[in-house]
Amino acid sequence: MKKNRLSSSLQTGLNTQMTQEALAAQIYLSYAAWATSEGFSGIANFLFRHANEERNHMMKFLEYIMERGAKAEIEAIPKPPKDPTSIQNCFEQIFQQEIGNTAGIYKLVKMSFDEGDWATWHFLQWFVKEQTEEETLALNLLDKIKVAGGEKATSEALYNLDRDLQKEPDEAALAETKSAANP
Ligand code: FEO
Repeated sequence: MKKNRLSSSLQTGLNTQMTQEALAAQIYLSYAAWATSEGFSGIANFLFRHANEERNHMMKFLEYIMERGAKAEIEAIPKPPKDPTSIQNCFEQIFQQEIGNTAGIYKLVKMSFDEGDWATWHFLQWFVKEQTEEETLALNLLDKIKVAGGEKATSEALYNLDRDLQKEPDEAALAETKSAANP
């Protein structure tokens, strides 16, 4: 009896995205280690928390692939990129990496739509919303860094930013949850 309900292209695509999420976790970990070595413990705390989120994303793909009766392939994770050159550069890289991740998710959404694999399409909708949140969060942080002076931020501005990021919520509020009464 055939128990695998994923097409071979979706099985490959979902496995690739699973490794991509593991890479995202490694990138956040690597940037967190860099921020710690630079003395930014609040920013490092934020990045460590986010590394865990990415690992959870990886686990969701792993669980889903297995749930559909397919084989999850645990592959080598590529090495994260070089250390950032500044706090601003760190969050610019993070924003770009989230945009790349969104592109990977959208590709899978399209594949599942074209195949009429509605279970996979439905599973992926959680990630569509999650990516909107993550891009918004990264962009909001970049705005804060720019307001603090960007590449020319003073030590005092960076100190305040580091302290604020210690308590920054892990999720951004999205337009779809806002209203005229609650802008
Ligand atoms: Fe799991 Fe930030 O994407």
